[in-house]
Amino acid sequence: MYSTYKDWILLNGSMINTREKEPMISLDERGLQFGDGVYEVFRLYDGKPHLLDLHLDRFFQSMKAIELEPPFTKEEFIYQMQQLVEKNEFKEDGNVYIQISRGVQPRNHLFESNLQPTYYANIVPFPRPDTLMENGIKATVAEDIRWHFCHIKSLNLLPNIMIKNKIAKEGYYEAILVRNGIVTEGCHSNFFIVKNGTLITHPANQFILHGITRHHVISLAKKLNIPVEERQFSLPEVYGADECFFTATPIEIVPVTQIGGDWYQTGEQPIIRKLQEAYKESIYNKVTPNN
Ligand SMILES: Cc1ncc(COP(=O)(O)O)c(C=O)c1O
Repeated sequence: MYSTYKDWILLNGSMINTREKEPMISLDERGLQFGDGVYEVFRLYDGKPHLLDLHLDRFFQSMKAIELEPPFTKEEFIYQMQQLVEKNEFKEDGNVYIQISRGVQPRNHLFESNLQPTYYANIVPFPRPDTLMENGIKATVAEDIRWHFCHIKSLNLLPNIMIKNKIAKEGYYEAILVRNGIVTEGCHSNFFIVKNGTLITHPANQFILHGITRHHVISLAKKLNIPVEERQFSLPEVYGADECFFTATPIEIVPVTQIGGDWYQTGEQPIIRKLQEAYKESIYNKVTPNN
């Protein structure tokens, strides 16, 4: 069967070569039946993890938020990630996908205590998306139809994928989600606007995912003396912005060139370019400001 991930995967603490053995997960697994679990994605550059600590902190917070007891400590899990990279002899750029779900039990909304969680991780090769980062993307606006706990990196992505598929058919890459008139984030990335040299983004509360890239970009901006406002804003501010961009682990910082038929980026994007440069520095020179 075709897959994009590298041969060796981590499944419940063991390394499996998927060329030799098909990984098996029960039909009674709650992740499969209910999406009862959480996930995480972190980046490897030249085979080395980027911002791993922050990603694992969020992973543990997500598990805690759904009352899922991790079957490993953070240190044990870091060791398993190292094994995953080493087994695959992976020295390129890639994304590590990690998923943990509550475990196996006959189908029932009520979860039993002391279930053994099911978890796995794999590596998907993924070069830095230079063209996307340079040329930017077209976005549109969509209603934020998600639940009220968007800070949990839950497996339940049905609203996100329904919106993404609808807008993709219309030729857009990402949606600017709006809840009760307030701009929250994208389907799979956080959203920023720039006005008069100031970065503006939605506060890190339950209405957005607390993106690690978002956090990193805010740290970089502060280091570059770019003022940052984490506050609510609505569409008129977006249409009045000088620059707009999305952030996410695989794509880093991606400029927006157009929002529907209502906003076009025609000029330079000096703040975005500065932040992209600083981001690249942080990857290769390990300049990580107060993370
Ligand atoms: C809804 C949503 N917002 C933001 C992000 C960006 O988060 P991060 O920067 O941690 O990748 C993601 C990434 O998957 C996401 O799904």
